[in-house]
Amino acid sequence: MSDDRYLTFALGKGRLANKTMELFEKIGITCEEMRDKSSRKLIFVNEDLKLRFFLAKSPDVPTYVEYGAADIGIVGKDTILEENRNVYEVLDLGYGKCRMCVCGPASAGELLLHHERIRVASKYPCIAKDYFYNKKHQTVDIIKLNGSVELGPLVELSDVIVDIVETGSTLKENGLEVLEEVCPLSARMIVNPVSMQMETARIKRLVNELKEIL
Ligand code: PRP
Repeated sequence: MSDDRYLTFALGKGRLANKTMELFEKIGITCEEMRDKSSRKLIFVNEDLKLRFFLAKSPDVPTYVEYGAADIGIVGKDTILEENRNVYEVLDLGYGKCRMCVCGPASAGELLLHHERIRVASKYPCIAKDYFYNKKHQTVDIIKLNGSVELGPLVELSDVIVDIVETGSTLKENGLEVLEEVCPLSARMIVNPVSMQMETARIKRLVNELKEIL
């Protein structure tokens, strides 16, 4: 494939996107347009390198990549697991490190131990379901929440939560703790399967250059 075609990146909005652009800069990939933080523009272009970048809500990044609207996406492993899209995960970028955990009050440990039919609140119902049903073989009721999931056990909506733990301070400040670890998380690069075929050389070069500096 010729280098005339734009390679399009979908980046999860926020801290992850900033980190990604810092990393890309180290291998000579820059995007001047993106530096203007007051801009409301959604798509940024580097004409010289024939690259396009757009910022999207994290859960939408795998969707853009699956449909080929973006060739490459940068998003957390949590989102990749939850969205379960047809994309290739090609690189662990190492930042955004945290853990997906089952958390709750210490007393809920007993309920987990005895495989009781408990209520689990989570922003990640698919990850929670996979963990309890397929890994633990435990039947549970899953309640989808959209944020501040730690409230679940505090107001007795649920017995436990499945949520991201980074520093652990949200749990600590609310009298909750990690009861079980589901999996480690970090930022990953995902690629559209067709783009991988059509743009193999460019994508491989990018992945190798990133690997060298990681
Ligand atoms: C995330 C996560 C936890 C918290 C963990 O929430 O859902 O609540 O961060 O971080 P910590 O271990 O460093 O305290 P986020 O801030 O993304 O907001 P949300 O609760 O609305 O999802």
